[in-house]
Amino acid sequence: MKGVVFTEFLEMVEGLFSEDMVDDIIEDAGIASGGAYTAVGTYPFAELLALITALSQRSGLDTAQLVERFGHYLFGRFAVLYPHSIEGCSHAFAVLGNIEKYIHLEVKKLYPDAQLPEINVVSSDEQRLELLYSSPRCLAPLARGLIQGALDHFGEQGSIVLEPLNAEGSKVRFVVEHPV
Ligand code: HEM
Repeated sequence: MKGVVFTEFLEMVEGLFSEDMVDDIIEDAGIASGGAYTAVGTYPFAELLALITALSQRSGLDTAQLVERFGHYLFGRFAVLYPHSIEGCSHAFAVLGNIEKYIHLEVKKLYPDAQLPEINVVSSDEQRLELLYSSPRCLAPLARGLIQGALDHFGEQGSIVLEPLNAEGSKVRFVVEHPV
């Protein structure tokens, strides 16, 4: 997993909790590097899971809730760090419909070793968007937070329904709907 995900995760933890919480979860997770991540580096996905588990244990919040919260935070950060990825989009569905064919494609050019999900558009109109998420990393709660982040970025209202299509959560249907 790309270092930018780790650096942003630790920034969020510092802002939401404290610098001590960052040190504590790095220690709990037994991370050999001591958490010295760089945005362009690549680190084991298992380290992110260990950090999230440690944060869940220390904060008492459940992991899916924390991952979703992180997704929301991450959208705001991606919009700042990679403004080109969403420039030209005037509403959330424009961004969400662009993930697979443009946004993540550009990420892959920038970081050939990035491990990205597949996010395909099943159907889309002004009011309703249906997406299929597929990834062996089973990060649908992260996707949900990112989708909410996109809605909030454009000041839009919308409901997000997440329907797991298998037991492990590697395939998930999302239906995002604006109120009528
Ligand atoms: C705003 C523009 C976006 C940028 C620049 C971006 C970039 C990235 C990057 C750099 C990663 C990490 C890849 C790795 O660690 O190897 C990633 C992962 C991911 N992205 Fe995006 N992304 C964007 C928007 C979105 C949106 C709107 C969604 C909503 C569904 C999304 C869903 C995900 C998920 C779920 C992952 C985690 C990997 C996985 O599930 O397998 N991204 N993205």
